[in-house]
Amino acid sequence: MLNFFQFQNGLNKFVKRGVVSSFFSNVLPPEPKIRKQQVTVFGCTGQIGFQVSKSLAKLGHSVVAVSRARTKNNSAKLDELYELGCNLKETKGKRDYSTYKKFLKNTETCVFVERVTGEEIVPIQSVALKAALSAGVQCFVPTEFGSNNLVRERGIVDFLDLKKDFQDILKQSGINYKLIFTGGFFDYFLPNLRFFEKITTFGKMDTIYPTHDLRDIGAITARIISDPRVAKKGVQICSNLITQIQALNWLYEAFPNYKFERIHYDSETILKNLKTSGNEITAKGGHETDKERWQLNKMIWIDQQLYFKDERQTLKAHELYPNFEYIKPQDVLKDPIFVFGKKNY
Ligand SMILES: NC(=O)c1ccc[n+]([C@@H]2O[C@H](COP(=O)([O-])OP(=O)(O)OC[C@H]3O[C@@H](n4cnc5c(N)ncnc54)[C@H](OP(=O)(O)O)[C@@H]3O)[C@@H](O)[C@H]2O)c1
Repeated sequence: MLNFFQFQNGLNKFVKRGVVSSFFSNVLPPEPKIRKQQVTVFGCTGQIGFQVSKSLAKLGHSVVAVSRARTKNNSAKLDELYELGCNLKETKGKRDYSTYKKFLKNTETCVFVERVTGEEIVPIQSVALKAALSAGVQCFVPTEFGSNNLVRERGIVDFLDLKKDFQDILKQSGINYKLIFTGGFFDYFLPNLRFFEKITTFGKMDTIYPTHDLRDIGAITARIISDPRVAKKGVQICSNLITQIQALNWLYEAFPNYKFERIHYDSETILKNLKTSGNEITAKGGHETDKERWQLNKMIWIDQQLYFKDERQTLKAHELYPNFEYIKPQDVLKDPIFVFGKKNY
């Protein structure tokens, strides 16, 4: 007869393996073996594209890694992809049907993660999708990699509505597709001094949000690509669920002698800034317009819609791959290079 602690111990092992969580939610078939295929990644030097291309190559897939051209900024990344066996290609900045089609020959999955600004999201991806359909590509992974844009209603963030418009086009096209929702990347969603002079926090400090390291996002996306359990579905990566309060505490514990200055944009200020901001881009290193940035801040830190806790529409990455070990935010916040940047450390 098991005593309570033995029972609890056994249960924990099952939970860790994802057995219990998948029993109570979607009943998933076990993780299949990787089936190797040719994948074309448009935007292979980007934040997402680089990690996805690397992970795909490491899993043994044949990767066509497409950038605009070799430059001083991307050459180290292109060299690394080449070393891993990726087949490097260049568009020379062209975004037309025949350019995309040329790089999709014999490709099974197209990952589209070139940088697309708001008004480019639908037309540019539509050209790539048309080329993919004509080249016989079977699966399209569009540029999502943020909030759960399958579940949320329209009308909060303009460019996320445009991503939803493209989801509709994908659905109508009949092609297989996979939508990947990551929550926030560590770089922007953990407190650090690399982009701003002060630690910046927003709105409701106890908002629960998912945040992950780009390497983990790349590794999970690469698994999803050849996973037949994910067909015409969204996947939510939500293994690190934290709050801004927790993140600040981890930071202060890691550097107890450093006097961090902090600026907090409360909910009222977010709403005021949203009213007065326009289409200029003033954020350092940012690509969204000021209006889009404040729309995002409202959605994440006031409406609390980066992540939807109880929804069952999207698959959960930790249920699909229960043995995957994620990089933890509290460990990253101990790294002075992450917090202060290379220049300042
Ligand atoms: N959840 C989050 O915290 C978060 C944060 C940021 C982004 N995102 C999302 O992640 C997705 C992927 O974005 P990303 O940040 O990985 O992209 P990115 O790094 O901004 O750009 C990807 C690549 O696109 C290429 N590129 C740039 N301008 C281009 C142009 N005009 N024409 C063609 N190619 C161009 C560049 O490569 P080459 O110069 O080598 O050609 C660049 O490396 C987006 O949907 C974005 O909204 C999410």
